[in-house]
Amino acid sequence: MEILVTGGTGYIGSHTVVELLQAGHSVVIADNLCHSDRSVLDGIRAITGQIPVFYETDCCDRAALDRLFQRHPKLDAVIHFAALKAVNESELLPLAYYANNLGALVTLLQAMQAHRVNQIVFSSSCTVYGTPGNPPVTEQSPIQPATSPYGATKQMCERILQDAVHADPSLSATALRYFNPIGAHESGLIGEKPQGVPQNLLPYVTETAAGIRRELRIFGNDYPTPDGTCIRDFIHVSDLARAHVCALEHMRHVPAGWRTYNIGTGRGTSVRELVDTFIRTTGASVPFRYEARRPGDIGQIWADPSLAERELGWKSVKTLEETLLSAWRWQQHITNLEK
Ligand code: NAD
Ligand code: WQD
Repeated sequence: MEILVTGGTGYIGSHTVVELLQAGHSVVIADNLCHSDRSVLDGIRAITGQIPVFYETDCCDRAALDRLFQRHPKLDAVIHFAALKAVNESELLPLAYYANNLGALVTLLQAMQAHRVNQIVFSSSCTVYGTPGNPPVTEQSPIQPATSPYGATKQMCERILQDAVHADPSLSATALRYFNPIGAHESGLIGEKPQGVPQNLLPYVTETAAGIRRELRIFGNDYPTPDGTCIRDFIHVSDLARAHVCALEHMRHVPAGWRTYNIGTGRGTSVRELVDTFIRTTGASVPFRYEARRPGDIGQIWADPSLAERELGWKSVKTLEETLLSAWRWQQHITNLEK
């Protein structure tokens, strides 16, 4: 198949491009490079021996998307990663988040409709469940009020997709609700590159181990969990990337329509467990101290990913140890490049 990957030079997008190329698909990337850079294409080429077609394109730019679809009239499907994703930043810049995340999806869907491309896989998030009840979370768990403008954009995007599918019976849309993606490609050649101080846990851990940060602050050790720290479902980014290939395959064999799947491991890991496992498997040192809870954090969440296994034939296979080692390999790679 020929697939348009928006946000394809970003963290999850680049790993998905690798999986798509290795599964024999052709890839066209559209990314405006607001949160990634072209050097990612070198990493993709080093891993796969192929370099995907790349357009520096903003998905809110309808004319640019029209040109892209005209130049690639055989596109079969789109995977839409392009979005702004920092929860804190979305509190400060809600309008930028609504304009970009909603604008890109609506513009893309209009362009797809005009060019008769009718399959889309959308990057959603476990954040749509808000503050859920007892884990694990299934796709039937209620959608709760969003806890940030970012989370609201994911809920609204899902609604937009549902309405578009309702109005156009030829359209197929699958939303993958990611839990906590971490790690890097096993080659250590592509990975997550946070801009500035990392907000997410594992990049902060690897930067602390690399000596870039002095110490990790663990936000809260008084949650009602076995060790008092929060529990999350951390999933290797390459496992997550593979889920997109499975979702595309699945779409070809089922009637058009709206579908949504949890993409996680089905295992909960506490923050402290993650840090301890990182120290044990890498041998690196990670000084840390406990701090007060981070506002807005939920105590525990993990996925029930069994629907994805049953319907998409997908499940995560990487262990936590190999996931943490991959992140460390990538951190060492970027630290060496910056020396
Ligand atoms: P990322 O920031 O690494 O990648 C997003 C990419 O989209 C970047 O390359 C950026 O330059 C590009 N982009 C943003 N707006 C654009 C626009 N208007 N036009 C073109 N390109 C644009 O983020 P990521 O972690 O790879 O996330 C990918 C998707 O997965 C996002 O939709 C995000 O909300 C979602 N998601 C991420 C996580 C996570 O923890 N990383 C969890 C759940 C869902
Ligand atoms: C994980 C745990 C922190 C940093 C976010 C988004 C969510 C989704 C995934 C996009 C929490 C603790 C963190 C640190 C810490 N993204 N922590 N010290 O908050 O589960 O989810 O990314 O859709 O929408 O909210 O991930 O990595 O920020 O935090 O103790 O320096 O690590 O308190 O318990 P989170 P995270």
